[in-house]
Amino acid sequence: MGDRIHINEVGPRDGLQNQPVNLTVEEKLELVGELVGAGITAIEATSFVSPKAVPQMADADQLFPRLPKADRVAYSALVPNVRGLERALLAGVREIAVVLAATDTMNLRNIKMSLAQAKQACIDTIVEAATRGLRKKAYVAVAFTCPFEGKVDPDRVLDLAGEMFLHGADEVVIADTIGAANPREVSELLPECVRRFGAARLSVHFHDTRGFALANAWAAHSAGVRRFDSSVGGLGGCPFVPGAAGNLATEDLVVLAEQCGFRTGIDLPRLRRAVAVAERLTRRKLGGRTTAWLQSEDTRGGPRE
Ligand code: COA
Ligand code: ZN
Repeated sequence: MGDRIHINEVGPRDGLQNQPVNLTVEEKLELVGELVGAGITAIEATSFVSPKAVPQMADADQLFPRLPKADRVAYSALVPNVRGLERALLAGVREIAVVLAATDTMNLRNIKMSLAQAKQACIDTIVEAATRGLRKKAYVAVAFTCPFEGKVDPDRVLDLAGEMFLHGADEVVIADTIGAANPREVSELLPECVRRFGAARLSVHFHDTRGFALANAWAAHSAGVRRFDSSVGGLGGCPFVPGAAGNLATEDLVVLAEQCGFRTGIDLPRLRRAVAVAERLTRRKLGGRTTAWLQSEDTRGGPRE
């Protein structure tokens, strides 16, 4: 895998699902266009969930078929059940993501199912998606700490990830949905995940609630992980999780990776434009930590490594 890292941009889904401002399809297309222009090659574009549960994603059926066509870009969509899968197929989706929270209470709050029911729904969806020839990702959410049940046993996360692979998932994403993980916990869980499942089919998803997301990403990278979710401007949060702040900001991850000698394939100046567009469309100042620093580099005219 060399010195390349792979970034999956989740701003249009994980980011926008939690915004008080509901973007139009045209606005979402503008944002995705900027992300594609910046060289991002994987984008979680939307979710085919109940519009009552997440009104911000109610336009998925209209949005997905209109996403900018580019051979090098893989778009994915989150689906919670076979009903969502059917909608996704009609819209042209070729890669889906299912979400399995690691605790009972989190599943109940998010999708009104127990852990056992949620696991079965994920399996049903993955199995059905396999028959349609789709690529399938499975998130194991609240993989470190659950906001309702506290610390999550790493063995449980390993078991759930193993079951997702067993039933046909192509990739498992270990997700710190509330930003409660620390690098020590990441360094305990991820090496074992890599040992059991292989780094090529593992990915990580960190929220930056406490400013630990980059440190956690670094710990995951040290464990061999090369696939990361992040979100333009750090957009994000989960409507069903108290205190879940934004994701690891894509621009922060790109700056860290590139400065440390890893290639992302992403054009930083173009990505900054995407951040500015995301700020304009969501009408808020976004959270990436490098933006202000890069702006001051501009005014100083200093080198930007
Ligand atoms: N797409 C659109 N509508 C859907 C749907 C889907 N994938 N799945 C269910 N629905 C509809 C049902 O038709 C029903 O509609 P109605 O009230 O008009 O009859 C309604 O949603 C409720 O369906 P039900 O099967 O009773 O599900 P529920 O109320 O237990 O909700 C979920 C379960 C999973 C559909 C819902 O909680 C959901 O979509 N959650 C999304 C969570 C999310 O995106 N979280 C953030 C990402 S981690
Ligand atoms: Zn998230």
